[in-house]
Amino acid sequence: MHDDNDVVSNNSAETSIGELIERRLSRRGALAGLAGTAVFAALGGRASAQAASSSSFTFKEVPHVNDPTHHVPDDYEVQVLIRWGDPVLPGAPAYDPMKQSAATQALQFGYNNDFLGLHALPAGSVSGDRFLMVVNHEYTNTNLMLAGIGEGREARLRVDQAGAEIEMAAHGGSVIEITREGRRWKVVDGSRYARRIDANTPMRIAGPAAGDGKMKTSADPAGTKVLGMFNNCAGGATPWGTWLTCEENVNFYFTGDQAKHADQALAKRYGIGQRVAYAWGRYFDRFNFDKEPNEPNRFGWIVEIDPYEPQSTPVKRTALGRFAHEGCHHAVAKDGRVVCYMGDDSRFEYVYKFVTAKPWSPTDRAANRDLLNEGTLYVARFDEGGKVVWLPLLHGQGPLTAENGFASQADVVIGARRAGDLLKATPMDRPEDVEPNKVNGRVYVALSNNGSRKPEQVNPANPRAKNDHGHILEIAPKDGDHASTEGTWSIFVAGGQPGKDEGAKYHPETSADGWLTCPDNVAFDSKGRLWIATDSGEIAGIADGLYACDVAGPGRALTRQFFAAPKGSEVCGPIFTPDDRTLFLAIQHPGEGKGSTYETPATRWPDFKDGAPPRPSVLVITKKDGGIIGS
Ligand code: FEO
Ligand code: CA
Ligand code: CA
Ligand code: CA
Repeated sequence: MHDDNDVVSNNSAETSIGELIERRLSRRGALAGLAGTAVFAALGGRASAQAASSSSFTFKEVPHVNDPTHHVPDDYEVQVLIRWGDPVLPGAPAYDPMKQSAATQALQFGYNNDFLGLHALPAGSVSGDRFLMVVNHEYTNTNLMLAGIGEGREARLRVDQAGAEIEMAAHGGSVIEITREGRRWKVVDGSRYARRIDANTPMRIAGPAAGDGKMKTSADPAGTKVLGMFNNCAGGATPWGTWLTCEENVNFYFTGDQAKHADQALAKRYGIGQRVAYAWGRYFDRFNFDKEPNEPNRFGWIVEIDPYEPQSTPVKRTALGRFAHEGCHHAVAKDGRVVCYMGDDSRFEYVYKFVTAKPWSPTDRAANRDLLNEGTLYVARFDEGGKVVWLPLLHGQGPLTAENGFASQADVVIGARRAGDLLKATPMDRPEDVEPNKVNGRVYVALSNNGSRKPEQVNPANPRAKNDHGHILEIAPKDGDHASTEGTWSIFVAGGQPGKDEGAKYHPETSADGWLTCPDNVAFDSKGRLWIATDSGEIAGIADGLYACDVAGPGRALTRQFFAAPKGSEVCGPIFTPDDRTLFLAIQHPGEGKGSTYETPATRWPDFKDGAPPRPSVLVITKKDGGIIGS
């Protein structure tokens, strides 16, 4: 979680009396449904029994903790693969926290590693020992990165220009080449694929918004080119091996007076000018929307990057809509079209999917190059009775007309949230990863939390008011086809401490160490078992962690804690090698929290070097006997 969290800008969550009655009734139904399986809540959980379990996992659970370092089961090993500041490009100096500059940071691994993707080398191979790893660098904890900043958002806004330029160079992404020898992984020095992308990297704008009047700025009168990406949270990959990286809370970066913005409806709906967390607008006019009113419209997109072509220009794929993109995981529909699932991670925002117009070609990579420019963007409505309907966001259909402010498909994608409002999509409890499980064909929607939901705002798929602990929905597409506009849904797990937090829902055997709070990124091993990473465990007094559970059989929804993260950090990017024998984790913002600064960090993980700050890092986790992770 960014320590400033998100902005509530969806006022359409305000509801009519009719809807209120309907929602109250449906909440009763949903809670009754939970009660049937949540016997455990009443029992207060059973002690941390490691004995005979219905779970298919055999690892010994890690206890709930909240301390300066990480924890795995005893028979597992943790290796640090790469840390913020480690060299990525030729000529990069070794990390020295007292000698930072934008020029050195641009050659080094960026800050706050979030999404991790693996792309096999050689391209198209099924090799398991050599990969390009792609990494998002979501944001910077400048208070922890740089000496002398002090505590909190206000202090960060006083950063000088040199500091702001370091921040810009620490955002974006990295491509690194990694190889395995035995159980050890290392970064290949001097790889021809190595790349850093940051807030100033030239990018192309493609799809319906390209060239639109709302995308034009003084630096780009054609509205087709933009510098950089930032707040890239999670992501995904295409079937043709490109990286999809997701711009999330981009409103934090733009200074200006929202009340004076020419397009009030759009600026408000995207929180532009609210909760500004960076000083970039003081030094660079494009981050001041009083001067460049359209620059914010050029952020908040899915960016496609080809990691195999280090010189290629990243492309913002506007057909997939503009919002606080968390992730972008795909499934292939029965007819070969590609379906990308996406969440808009703010309170009361929506779940989306994009279906390409054409099937992808497994034999002609070049034919897929612009596949993501054409297709249909849908937003989800979760109905009572467990039905989900995907509503198309198409200009000219239903309310998406010029009278309502949508003169073109460009208006629809730039203002996707407003289009979703008009179609009465379901306001959710912060949709994070929305990821299809290739083994069972179902889609898992991590809903992190929503402490702002009032009792009159509950709906069937978000049945808890003041939902501090989040939940996970499971969607079954109709006829198993991801292109279908219908499906069914149910609540798979509901977070919180059983017996303490109302509505917590788990398998009855879940131990006192196995409950979780605030699900964020999810991943699947090759058996289709679900791994859940959390963000914001401190709300329940516990460290964030990684939890594993079955999705089928007697251990379904029996979550077990596999990893506990260092204080102040969240767990991101869980991804397995195809052989399930290595798990990579991205540990983001170690030491974040009140009172924690460069000088007095809450932890100095992972180096624990006196006087040096903590460093976001990518971890390699293996089983000491070389076995399957989680076994
Ligand atoms: Fe950046 Fe939605 O977590
Ligand atoms: Ca999060
Ligand atoms: Ca996230
Ligand atoms: Ca994921």
